[in-house]
Amino acid sequence: MAYTAKDYGHLIGMEGFSETLLKNHFTLYQGYVTNTNKLMDTLTTMLKEGKVGTPEYSELKRRMGFEFNGMRLHEYYFENLAGKGVLDKSGKLGRKLTEDFGSYEDWEKDFKGTGTMRGIGWAILYQDNVTGRLLNQWINEHETGHPAGCFPILVMDVFEHAFITDYGLKRADYIEAFFKNINWEAVEARLK
Ligand SMILES: [Fe+2]
Repeated sequence: MAYTAKDYGHLIGMEGFSETLLKNHFTLYQGYVTNTNKLMDTLTTMLKEGKVGTPEYSELKRRMGFEFNGMRLHEYYFENLAGKGVLDKSGKLGRKLTEDFGSYEDWEKDFKGTGTMRGIGWAILYQDNVTGRLLNQWINEHETGHPAGCFPILVMDVFEHAFITDYGLKRADYIEAFFKNINWEAVEARLK
């Protein structure tokens, strides 16, 4: 069954995100969906043709991590936006952030610090499904650094395409705009 690109047109109009930036970002996302489907089809064909174990098969298998995560992480990202940016700190997630980071402020400092690291990738707040603990993690490109057994709770794109159109090199300003638009209800709903 092929993956279908979701429509995130409702994000247009968010404060701090231009229409040009968002439309380009949607196009990039659609490319990951297309490529994930293409790779899955090609790998299935190669399996049927007895080409497992060839260098071509191996390289396409490696590529899956990049294309699939490029698709899925953008979905988490777009779906944790278009909110009012206000977290109820006495709610389930607010209390959990305080418990695991000492305070909400320390969590925010660590998450923003992760997001402003040099390099391209993602800053992600995860919940460890084994212990329930929350952790902020840097993901290089799309496929490297995912902690096993953890579920993404809040996903922030820090590839240059996510902000350079509107903010130039001022990534910290983009992160402020991102925070103003977080849909904390959607984020909290991912928490177990
Ligand atoms: Fe992106």
